[in-house]
Amino acid sequence: MKLIIANWKSNKNMIEAGHWLEKALPQLEGISATIVIAPPSPFLALAKEALSPTQVKLGVQDLSPFPAGSYTGAVGTRNVEGLNIAFAILGHSERRRYFHESINEIANKVRETLSAGITPIVCVTKETVREQAHALENADRKKVIVAFEPVEHIGTGTTDTLEDILATKELVQSAFDDVPYIYGGSVDLHTDPKILTHTGIDGFLVGSASLNADEFVSLVKLIA
Ligand code: PGA
Repeated sequence: MKLIIANWKSNKNMIEAGHWLEKALPQLEGISATIVIAPPSPFLALAKEALSPTQVKLGVQDLSPFPAGSYTGAVGTRNVEGLNIAFAILGHSERRRYFHESINEIANKVRETLSAGITPIVCVTKETVREQAHALENADRKKVIVAFEPVEHIGTGTTDTLEDILATKELVQSAFDDVPYIYGGSVDLHTDPKILTHTGIDGFLVGSASLNADEFVSLVKLIA
């Protein structure tokens, strides 16, 4: 089963989030894929309620590297207890670029996330994959999902090539072990079906094309 994550990033207000869920969720029923919605944190409680009668899972776009405590502004695992969070996107290139996250900080996030029973989705590029893998503890390294997220293909309208995605999988598996491997970067309805359905790619992280409910549902149907 493919893993398909809708990463809304910093988009939508609460009304728009509610409309999206109302529209998309009934259409996602019965689709055999693991579908994850990662809304902005203020909408997690709203999404939890909407998702509870469905098979769709809830994800967060980031988690604090620290335990509960005096860390103003940070949302940590303690704060999301009870929200049925299944996945956490960690170390996205936008977090590295705009919030200056380091490889070690991301490793700390992975440890916090795993200790809360949440599956980390660790985002890497070809340049960071080795260093990121080595920064994780041996036991942690095998418990993550790795998302290959080439910066030059994020939000640009063109995906990486199938050949490059598969070549990077080898790099990822030599660094991380045989972990699930997903791709993110401009995946949309125009993406080559060979990429969307390739059995060597375990799923996709979808940004822009997840913002419109109908577009996302159509994309999920092409992949699943
Ligand atoms: P995009 O974002 O689909 O808008 O390129 C993907 C991502 O950042 O994971």
